[in-house]
Amino acid sequence: MSARQITQSDTQNRFIIGITGASGADYALRLIWRLSAIKGESDVIISPNFYKVLASEGGIDGASGQNLLEIAMARYGKTSDLHEFSNLAYTDIGARAASGSQKYRAMVIVPCSMKTLAAVTHGLSQNLIERAADVSLKERRTLIVCPRESPLSTIHLRNMLALSEAGAIVMPLMPGYYHKPQNITDLYDFMVDRIMQHLGLSERAIEPWQG
Ligand SMILES: Cc1cc2nc3c(=O)[nH]c(=O)nc-3n(C[C@H](O)[C@H](O)[C@H](O)COP(=O)(O)O)c2cc1C
Repeated sequence: MSARQITQSDTQNRFIIGITGASGADYALRLIWRLSAIKGESDVIISPNFYKVLASEGGIDGASGQNLLEIAMARYGKTSDLHEFSNLAYTDIGARAASGSQKYRAMVIVPCSMKTLAAVTHGLSQNLIERAADVSLKERRTLIVCPRESPLSTIHLRNMLALSEAGAIVMPLMPGYYHKPQNITDLYDFMVDRIMQHLGLSERAIEPWQG
């Protein structure tokens, strides 16, 4: 087998997106919708619990296996297909995202349940989202974790601190209000802008604060 040189284009805009069963399903849909207009590729791993949240919040039943970009487009309108999304099975802990030999620019877990937060914090890699996050930490790649819960127990808070100390960016789904949101999508975009900023992307839906 011949050795292959890793070039910058191997990692340019190549991401892992983990989606779990915390409230805020639309943060994931909106991120996918916005990424679809940016050249690149993402491996998407979806927890089965996400579909329960999607049914409860979005009234979308039986979405398991459906293309998330199509669901997002039904909500937010048609977009381009510059970004290539590949679904990796949640249970397939042997998939490519489970290996440190693969090159990704960053991983984001959005929304992130307290259960996945705990598992990643304590290195319990029982599914592909948790394993890929574990690998992101050991490979010192950018890992963005977007937890959602309220109020937070001492255990949740300790897990977030430990995860931050391990190198992750802990970015709770807590949108600001100073951009004067006109609708709920403006709130999603506030957080998606911050996620994209930490993914290394410069696209913004909301004008950065000018002071
Ligand atoms: C409608 C609904 C909303 C939920 N919201 C949250 C939430 O905001 N935060 C959270 O930590 N768990 C929430 N849960 C519970 C998680 O789905 C549950 O802990 C699950 O085990 C998470 O597993 P996962 O991280 O592998 O998806 C919710 C569950 C349902 C059905």
